[in-house]
Amino acid sequence: MKIIMLGAPGAGKGTQAKMIAEKFGVPHISTGDIFRANIKEGTELGMEAKKYMDQGLLVPDELTVKILLDRVAREDCADGYVLDGFPRTIPQAEVLDAALEKLNEKIDYAVNVDVPDENIVKRMSGRRACPKCGATFHVEHIPPKQEGICDSCGGELVLRDDDRQETVQNRLKVYHDQTQPLIDYYGKKGVLKSVDGTVEMQKVFQAISDIIK
Ligand code: AP5
Ligand code: MG
Repeated sequence: MKIIMLGAPGAGKGTQAKMIAEKFGVPHISTGDIFRANIKEGTELGMEAKKYMDQGLLVPDELTVKILLDRVAREDCADGYVLDGFPRTIPQAEVLDAALEKLNEKIDYAVNVDVPDENIVKRMSGRRACPKCGATFHVEHIPPKQEGICDSCGGELVLRDDDRQETVQNRLKVYHDQTQPLIDYYGKKGVLKSVDGTVEMQKVFQAISDIIK
C-alpha cells in the first residue's frame, strides 16, 4: 500500500500519516522530519535545508528527491509506505512516478487533507513538537498531559522555528503556488481522495479509513 498525504502546511498530514502507518503496518516517511533530524545532528544536508526551511521556502528538488528515493528503497518499504510532505512539486511527483514505473509499481492513494487557510495559522501557532521523538501536540486541541512535556518520551516540547506567524504565511503562499497543483495531478491519475481536515482528528482518520481498505 503506497499512500501520499497532500494538504497545506498544518493541515494534519503528519497527524494522520502516523495513524495510517500504525494501522497498516507501513513506515511513515516525512521529508520534513528527515530534514529536522539532520538539522538537529548538524549534518551538511541539515545546514543546507535549514536555509530554506527557516524562510518557509522549499528545499531544492535535487536534494529532496535523492533523500526520498534512498529512503523508499530501504527494506522496510517493501510492503509500502505513507509519504508525508513529499511530493511537494510537480517535478518531484514526476520523479517518484518514474522510479515507481521502473519497478512496475504505483501510488494507490493520494489523500488530500483539506483545511482552509484561516484555520491553518491558528493551528500552527498552537502546535508544540517534541524534538526528541517527533510527536506533535496542540495547546488547545491535543494538549499533552503535562504542559510543555512530551507524553511519549518526556522530552521538552518546542514551537517549531518555521511555525512563527510570518513564516507560516510564506509557507502557505509556497503551498498554493507549488504544491496545490498536485491535487489536479493525482486527480487526473484517478487516485485522489479528499477528506475534510477541519473536523476532529479521530473523525478525519475515520474518513480516511473508510477510503483506504
Ligand atoms: P513539513 O515538516 O512537511 O511541514 P508542512 O507541510 O509545512 O506541514 P506541517 O508538518 O507543518 O503540518 P502537518 O500537515 O504535518 O500537520 P500536523 O499533523 O503537524 O516541511 C517543513 C519544511 O521542510 C518545508 O516548509 C520545506 O522547507 C521542507 N520540505 C519538506 N518536504 C519537502 C519537499 N518534499 N520538498 C521541498 N521541501 C520540503 O498538524 C498541525 C497541528 O494541528 C498540530 O498541532 C496538530 O496537533 C493539530 N491538528 C492536527 N489535526 C487536527 C485536527 N483534525 N483538528 C485540530 N487540530 C489538529
Ligand atoms: Mg508534518
